Amino acid sequence: MKKRWWHNSVAYQVYPKSFLDTNNDGIGDLRGITEKLDYLHELGIDVLWISPFFKSPMKDNGYDISDYKEIDPIFGTMRDFDEMLEKANQLGIRILVDLVVNHTSDEHDWFEESRQSKDNPKRDWYIWKDGKQPNNWRSCFGGSVWEYDEKTDSSYFHYFHKGQPCLNWENKEVRDTIFEMINWWLDKGIGGFRVDAIEVIKKTRLDENFEVDAADGLASAYPGCRLVKGIELFLSEMAEKTFNQYDIMTIAEADIRIEDQELWTGPNGFFDMAFQFKSSKLDTELGFWHRPRTFDLLEYKEAIASEQYPLNDQTWAAVWLENHDVPRSITKYLGNDSPLEAHKMLGASYFFLRGTPFIYQGQEIGMRNIRYSSIVQYDDIASIDQYDRAIEEGYTNEQALGFVYNRSRDNTRYPMQWDNSKNYGFSKTDPWLEINTEFPEITVENALKDQSSLLYFYKDMISLRKSEEFKELFSYGTFEMILDKDPSIFAYLRIYDDKKVLVINNFTDRLVLLNLDYKVNKVLLNNIENDDININEIRPYQSLVLDVE
Ligand code: GLC
Ligand code: CA
Repeated sequence: MKKRWWHNSVAYQVYPKSFLDTNNDGIGDLRGITEKLDYLHELGIDVLWISPFFKSPMKDNGYDISDYKEIDPIFGTMRDFDEMLEKANQLGIRILVDLVVNHTSDEHDWFEESRQSKDNPKRDWYIWKDGKQPNNWRSCFGGSVWEYDEKTDSSYFHYFHKGQPCLNWENKEVRDTIFEMINWWLDKGIGGFRVDAIEVIKKTRLDENFEVDAADGLASAYPGCRLVKGIELFLSEMAEKTFNQYDIMTIAEADIRIEDQELWTGPNGFFDMAFQFKSSKLDTELGFWHRPRTFDLLEYKEAIASEQYPLNDQTWAAVWLENHDVPRSITKYLGNDSPLEAHKMLGASYFFLRGTPFIYQGQEIGMRNIRYSSIVQYDDIASIDQYDRAIEEGYTNEQALGFVYNRSRDNTRYPMQWDNSKNYGFSKTDPWLEINTEFPEITVENALKDQSSLLYFYKDMISLRKSEEFKELFSYGTFEMILDKDPSIFAYLRIYDDKKVLVINNFTDRLVLLNLDYKVNKVLLNNIENDDININEIRPYQSLVLDVE
């Protein structure tokens, strides 16, 4: 496999609004990120993905961009960005920018022009149809995908919020303008992009109604938007005219079909890797928060294996547990009362998979979900919409809030807990989103004082992945699940030449007896201290990483 600089990297995601506020207006900013680069460097991070910080009305917290080449004043200035980039590069940390090109903000100049008249030169830059609701599709954040605009008696298409009109990728001028913008950022020396919602850029069947699937009388827009045939042409054009001209790293946010993995992320793929969702979306039916579903470890393991196996020695993956769109992993997979060993085990269970591991801010100290007492305290548009839909389906306020507790995107968006001062050191002013008062002991300050903390365990995992002895294996070794029918243990081998590492994770609070036949050469990691290792007696929540024969 051709070696790339990011093959042995460990990445970290920052949600800038909630990371660190340095001018005390209650909102995190770019200088806050710059200030914490040393912390990230110390942890062993060498790639940093930052969620959008471009000019935006913030209807979806920056995923609604009104100017791609400006920094939003709440985050700082372009000079702040350049300083951050320079310091990061000095520390060997490459910065990844969030590329949001399925849609713009409705306040972007292009859209302002497009809505002026049917013959405006930018009319075709967005998707317009005559009349009020040309089809019955539901947008991602609720309501119709169509927003009526009186001025021209027609409606524009928005897969996400109405403040996020979809760009018309069929239009060559649109594509060329986007590609120019991409190269403009790359010429600044960034390390690459996380590519937002890229699986939905091509639309089809816009004239059809789909089958109604909920009380709102609408239908999921998926069949008309997700991975539509022909999207490959846009993606290969983008790769050719932009990404492939630079030595960078790109991650698509896309739940690629297994059979398309090579096409998307192979050696000549459109991207270097993808964030997939097969294991993270098991907890709801079709993304309806009011239709929770239970799943067991077997199903979870199967979902992960389904993404890992097609990675032959040419393709790559991004592996992750949390981001700004999903709940906190400890709450979701283990429960808030689970012990520290369990949190470490959960980390180890994904960290040694094949691909580049991503850590979301606060995951390294074990931050948990948040529970605000009223829906008005929520900022996330998905939470508000899903709450309303649950009420519409007949649930009570309490039940509807319960769904929000499990799934809200604010679970990972409330302010980062740095230290034991007011607002956890995030800001001296009231933050834009209320802090979590339920777990005051979870702070970076406390974690740094305790050698047995989750934070130090993450640090150990990172060092192991990067160690001279094992970095080739963890980068290029194949993945092989063992004990795939075991309902308590998630175990896999990584194999490279004549080297083998076994990763065993006990997801239960019980001792599990196994019948494995490996000779252990060396214990590389063990989340339980002073334990006499026996690979056939796995302690409650134990996690072992072993060099075996
Ligand atoms: C992606 C982002 C999410 C955002 C959406 C629309 O899924 O991760 O936060 O709301 O795209 O841009
Ligand atoms: Ca600020």
